[in-house]
Amino acid sequence: MITERSKAARELLAFYAEAGVDSAVGEQANDWLTGNRANAPAPAEISTSTASPAVRRASASTPTAMPAPPPTPDAAVMAARDAARGASSLEELRAILDRFEGCGLKGSASRLVFADGNPQSRLMFVGEAPGAEEDKQGLPFVGRSGQLLNRMLAAIGLDRTQVYIANIVPWRPPGNRTPTPVETQICLPFIQRQIELANPDILVTIGQPSTGALLGIQGIMKNRGRWLAYQTGTREIRAMPILHPAYLLRSPIAKRLAWRDFLAIKKALG
Ligand code: URA
Repeated sequence: MITERSKAARELLAFYAEAGVDSAVGEQANDWLTGNRANAPAPAEISTSTASPAVRRASASTPTAMPAPPPTPDAAVMAARDAARGASSLEELRAILDRFEGCGLKGSASRLVFADGNPQSRLMFVGEAPGAEEDKQGLPFVGRSGQLLNRMLAAIGLDRTQVYIANIVPWRPPGNRTPTPVETQICLPFIQRQIELANPDILVTIGQPSTGALLGIQGIMKNRGRWLAYQTGTREIRAMPILHPAYLLRSPIAKRLAWRDFLAIKKALG
Protein backbone atom coordinates (compact mmCIF):
# COMPACT_ATOMS: atom_id res chain seq x y z
CA MET A 1 0.00 0.00 0.00
CA ILE A 2 1.38 3.41 -0.89
CA THR A 3 1.05 5.82 2.02
CA GLU A 4 1.02 9.62 1.71
CA ARG A 5 4.47 9.63 3.30
CA SER A 6 6.00 7.22 0.82
CA LYS A 7 4.34 9.08 -2.07
CA ALA A 8 5.92 12.33 -0.86
CA ALA A 9 9.28 10.60 -0.41
CA ARG A 10 9.07 9.14 -3.91
CA GLU A 11 8.33 12.57 -5.39
CA LEU A 12 11.26 14.04 -3.47
CA LEU A 13 13.58 11.30 -4.78
CA ALA A 14 12.42 11.97 -8.35
CA PHE A 15 13.10 15.67 -7.79
CA TYR A 16 16.62 14.93 -6.50
CA ALA A 17 17.30 12.61 -9.45
CA GLU A 18 16.18 15.30 -11.89
CA ALA A 19 18.44 17.83 -10.14
CA GLY A 20 21.42 15.51 -10.52
CA VAL A 21 21.84 14.38 -6.91
CA ASP A 22 23.83 11.19 -7.27
CA SER A 23 24.47 9.88 -3.78
CA ALA A 24 22.53 9.50 -0.55
CA VAL A 25 24.16 11.21 2.44
CA GLY A 26 23.05 12.06 5.96
CA GLU A 27 23.09 15.41 7.70
CA GLN A 28 26.31 14.47 9.49
CA ALA A 29 29.37 12.94 7.90
CA ASN A 30 29.94 9.20 8.25
CA ASP A 31 33.34 7.83 9.06
CA TRP A 32 33.63 5.51 6.09
CA LEU A 33 37.19 4.49 6.98
CA THR A 34 36.29 2.85 10.29
CA GLY A 35 32.92 1.64 9.16
CA ASN A 36 31.20 3.70 11.89
CA ARG A 37 27.88 4.51 10.28
CA ALA A 38 26.10 6.04 13.26
CA ASN A 39 24.27 8.46 10.98
CA ALA A 40 23.42 6.02 8.26
CA PRO A 41 19.85 6.44 7.05
CA ALA A 42 17.41 3.69 7.98
CA PRO A 43 16.72 1.28 5.13
CA ALA A 44 14.31 2.92 2.73
CA GLU A 45 10.74 1.75 3.07
CA ILE A 46 9.78 3.03 -0.35
CA SER A 47 10.27 1.78 -3.85
CA THR A 48 12.71 4.01 -5.71
CA SER A 49 11.69 2.84 -9.15
CA THR A 50 11.09 6.41 -10.30
CA ALA A 51 14.54 7.58 -9.22
CA SER A 52 17.64 7.77 -11.43
CA PRO A 53 19.90 4.69 -11.64
CA ALA A 54 22.36 6.49 -9.37
CA VAL A 55 19.78 7.16 -6.69
CA ARG A 56 18.48 3.59 -7.00
CA ARG A 57 22.02 2.27 -6.56
CA ALA A 58 22.61 4.48 -3.55
CA SER A 59 19.40 3.59 -1.75
CA ALA A 60 19.60 -0.10 -2.62
CA SER A 61 22.85 -0.60 -0.70
CA THR A 62 22.51 -2.25 2.69
CA PRO A 63 23.26 -0.07 5.73
CA THR A 64 26.51 -1.93 6.42
CA ALA A 65 27.80 -2.05 2.83
CA MET A 66 30.96 -0.01 2.34
CA PRO A 67 31.07 1.74 -1.03
CA ALA A 68 34.25 1.35 -3.03
CA PRO A 69 36.29 4.49 -2.46
CA PRO A 70 36.38 6.71 -5.57
CA PRO A 71 39.67 6.47 -7.45
CA THR A 72 41.96 9.47 -7.17
CA PRO A 73 41.85 11.70 -10.28
CA ASP A 74 45.33 10.54 -11.31
CA ALA A 75 44.38 6.87 -10.92
CA ALA A 76 41.17 7.47 -12.91
CA VAL A 77 43.08 9.16 -15.75
CA MET A 78 45.59 6.29 -15.82
CA ALA A 79 42.77 3.74 -15.83
CA ALA A 80 41.05 5.64 -18.65
CA ARG A 81 44.25 5.64 -20.73
CA ASP A 82 44.75 1.91 -20.24
CA ALA A 83 41.10 1.15 -20.97
CA ALA A 84 40.96 3.32 -24.09
CA ARG A 85 44.18 1.83 -25.45
CA GLY A 86 42.65 -1.64 -25.11
CA ALA A 87 39.90 -0.90 -27.64
CA SER A 88 40.59 -2.07 -31.17
CA SER A 89 37.27 -0.97 -32.68
CA LEU A 90 34.63 1.66 -32.00
CA GLU A 91 32.21 -1.03 -30.79
CA GLU A 92 34.81 -2.24 -28.29
CA LEU A 93 35.48 1.32 -27.18
CA ARG A 94 31.76 1.89 -26.58
CA ALA A 95 31.53 -1.31 -24.50
CA ILE A 96 34.66 -0.40 -22.50
CA LEU A 97 33.32 3.10 -21.81
CA ASP A 98 30.00 1.65 -20.72
CA ARG A 99 31.80 -0.47 -18.10
CA PHE A 100 34.21 2.28 -17.01
CA GLU A 101 33.58 3.41 -13.42
CA GLY A 102 36.31 6.06 -13.13
CA CYS A 103 34.20 9.13 -13.95
CA GLY A 104 31.64 10.32 -11.41
CA LEU A 105 29.37 11.70 -14.14
CA LYS A 106 28.33 8.18 -15.05
CA GLY A 107 26.49 7.93 -11.73
CA SER A 108 24.15 10.84 -12.37
CA ALA A 109 23.61 10.39 -16.10
CA SER A 110 20.84 8.14 -17.43
CA ARG A 111 23.01 6.57 -20.08
CA LEU A 112 26.18 6.74 -22.13
CA VAL A 113 26.05 9.11 -25.12
CA PHE A 114 28.70 7.65 -27.39
CA ALA A 115 28.22 8.89 -30.94
CA ASP A 116 25.85 9.42 -33.83
CA GLY A 117 26.19 9.41 -37.59
CA ASN A 118 28.54 7.56 -39.84
CA PRO A 119 31.83 6.35 -38.31
CA GLN A 120 33.18 5.93 -41.85
CA SER A 121 32.73 9.63 -42.59
CA ARG A 122 35.74 11.77 -43.48
CA LEU A 123 34.30 14.52 -41.25
CA MET A 124 34.04 14.23 -37.46
CA PHE A 125 32.50 16.78 -35.06
CA VAL A 126 33.29 16.78 -31.34
CA GLY A 127 31.22 18.80 -28.85
CA GLU A 128 31.44 19.29 -25.11
CA ALA A 129 28.97 17.06 -23.26
CA PRO A 130 25.40 15.76 -23.59
CA GLY A 131 22.48 17.87 -22.36
CA ALA A 132 19.08 16.73 -21.11
CA GLU A 133 17.70 15.62 -24.48
CA GLU A 134 20.92 13.82 -25.42
CA ASP A 135 20.85 12.04 -22.04
CA LYS A 136 17.27 10.90 -22.73
CA GLN A 137 17.94 9.65 -26.24
CA GLY A 138 21.54 8.44 -25.84
CA LEU A 139 22.63 10.44 -28.91
CA PRO A 140 24.77 13.59 -29.17
CA PHE A 141 23.38 16.87 -30.45
CA VAL A 142 19.68 16.03 -30.62
CA GLY A 143 18.39 19.01 -28.59
CA ARG A 144 18.07 22.61 -29.76
CA SER A 145 21.82 22.93 -30.46
CA GLY A 146 21.70 19.71 -32.44
CA GLN A 147 18.81 20.95 -34.55
CA LEU A 148 20.81 24.05 -35.45
CA LEU A 149 23.83 21.86 -36.22
CA ASN A 150 21.58 19.83 -38.56
CA ARG A 151 20.53 23.03 -40.36
CA MET A 152 24.14 24.17 -40.73
CA LEU A 153 25.08 20.76 -42.15
CA ALA A 154 22.15 20.94 -44.56
CA ALA A 155 23.39 24.34 -45.72
CA ILE A 156 26.53 22.65 -47.09
CA GLY A 157 24.62 19.68 -48.49
CA LEU A 158 25.25 17.21 -45.65
CA ASP A 159 23.10 15.39 -43.14
CA ARG A 160 23.86 13.36 -40.04
CA THR A 161 24.27 10.12 -41.96
CA GLN A 162 27.28 11.68 -43.69
CA VAL A 163 29.19 12.91 -40.64
CA TYR A 164 30.31 11.36 -37.36
CA ILE A 165 29.47 13.19 -34.10
CA ALA A 166 30.68 12.70 -30.52
CA ASN A 167 31.49 14.67 -27.37
CA ILE A 168 34.55 15.10 -25.15
CA VAL A 169 32.51 13.88 -22.18
CA PRO A 170 30.02 11.08 -22.92
CA TRP A 171 27.81 11.47 -19.81
CA ARG A 172 25.53 14.40 -19.03
CA PRO A 173 26.87 16.61 -16.22
CA PRO A 174 24.11 17.18 -13.61
CA GLY A 175 21.99 20.21 -14.43
CA ASN A 176 24.03 20.72 -17.63
CA ARG A 177 26.90 22.23 -15.69
CA THR A 178 30.28 22.52 -17.40
CA PRO A 179 32.36 19.35 -16.90
CA THR A 180 35.15 19.95 -14.39
CA PRO A 181 38.77 19.87 -15.63
CA VAL A 182 39.21 16.54 -13.82
CA GLU A 183 36.13 15.01 -15.50
CA THR A 184 37.40 16.25 -18.85
CA GLN A 185 40.89 14.80 -18.27
CA ILE A 186 39.40 11.44 -17.28
CA CYS A 187 37.25 11.29 -20.45
CA LEU A 188 39.93 12.63 -22.79
CA PRO A 189 41.73 9.33 -23.56
CA PHE A 190 38.40 7.86 -24.72
CA ILE A 191 37.55 10.60 -27.20
CA GLN A 192 41.15 10.64 -28.44
CA ARG A 193 40.93 6.91 -29.09
CA GLN A 194 37.49 7.38 -30.68
CA ILE A 195 38.98 9.89 -33.13
CA GLU A 196 41.90 7.58 -33.84
CA LEU A 197 39.59 4.63 -34.53
CA ALA A 198 37.11 6.65 -36.63
CA ASN A 199 40.11 8.05 -38.50
CA PRO A 200 38.44 11.09 -40.14
CA ASP A 201 40.30 13.40 -42.53
CA ILE A 202 38.85 16.50 -40.90
CA LEU A 203 38.12 17.09 -37.21
CA VAL A 204 35.81 19.93 -36.21
CA THR A 205 35.87 20.95 -32.54
CA ILE A 206 32.61 22.56 -31.47
CA GLY A 207 33.06 25.37 -28.94
CA GLN A 208 35.86 26.26 -26.55
CA PRO A 209 35.76 23.24 -24.20
CA SER A 210 36.25 20.77 -27.04
CA THR A 211 38.80 23.03 -28.77
CA GLY A 212 40.78 23.48 -25.55
CA ALA A 213 40.73 19.78 -24.67
CA LEU A 214 41.65 18.43 -28.12
CA LEU A 215 43.70 21.20 -29.71
CA GLY A 216 45.13 22.76 -26.56
CA ILE A 217 44.22 26.33 -27.48
CA GLN A 218 42.19 29.03 -25.76
CA GLY A 219 40.09 31.75 -27.35
CA ILE A 220 37.36 30.35 -29.57
CA MET A 221 36.50 33.75 -31.08
CA LYS A 222 39.98 34.30 -32.42
CA ASN A 223 40.64 30.67 -33.36
CA ARG A 224 37.33 29.66 -34.98
CA GLY A 225 37.67 29.05 -38.68
CA ARG A 226 41.45 28.47 -38.46
CA TRP A 227 42.92 25.28 -39.86
CA LEU A 228 45.12 23.55 -37.31
CA ALA A 229 46.87 20.20 -37.11
CA TYR A 230 45.67 17.29 -34.99
CA GLN A 231 47.70 14.13 -34.31
CA THR A 232 45.34 11.16 -34.16
CA GLY A 233 48.05 8.81 -32.91
CA THR A 234 48.59 7.29 -36.34
CA ARG A 235 48.64 10.39 -38.55
CA GLU A 236 48.20 14.15 -38.73
CA ILE A 237 44.83 15.47 -39.89
CA ARG A 238 43.31 18.92 -40.33
CA ALA A 239 41.25 20.37 -37.52
CA MET A 240 39.04 23.44 -37.26
CA PRO A 241 37.36 24.97 -34.20
CA ILE A 242 33.86 26.36 -34.78
CA LEU A 243 31.43 28.31 -32.60
CA HIS A 244 29.08 26.17 -30.51
CA PRO A 245 25.46 26.15 -31.81
CA ALA A 246 24.29 26.97 -28.25
CA TYR A 247 26.27 30.23 -28.55
CA LEU A 248 24.80 30.88 -32.00
CA LEU A 249 21.30 30.44 -30.57
CA ARG A 250 22.10 33.16 -28.02
CA SER A 251 23.97 35.39 -30.49
CA PRO A 252 22.38 34.90 -33.93
CA ILE A 253 24.58 37.66 -35.37
CA ALA A 254 27.53 35.27 -35.10
CA LYS A 255 25.85 32.82 -37.51
CA ARG A 256 27.53 34.56 -40.42
CA LEU A 257 30.92 33.53 -38.94
CA ALA A 258 29.68 29.95 -38.63
CA TRP A 259 28.48 30.06 -42.22
CA ARG A 260 31.98 31.03 -43.36
CA ASP A 261 33.47 28.17 -41.37
CA PHE A 262 31.05 25.63 -42.82
CA LEU A 263 31.87 26.81 -46.34
CA ALA A 264 35.57 26.30 -45.59
CA ILE A 265 34.82 22.78 -44.30
CA LYS A 266 32.84 22.00 -47.47
CA LYS A 267 35.72 23.22 -49.61
CA ALA A 268 38.23 21.13 -47.65
CA LEU A 269 36.09 18.01 -48.22
CA GLY A 270 36.44 18.65 -51.97
N1 URA B 1 26.08 20.34 -26.64
C1 URA B 1 27.17 19.57 -26.79
O1 URA B 1 28.29 20.04 -26.69
N2 URA B 1 26.99 18.29 -27.06
C2 URA B 1 25.77 17.74 -27.21
O2 URA B 1 25.69 16.55 -27.46
C3 URA B 1 24.66 18.58 -27.06
C4 URA B 1 24.83 19.88 -26.78
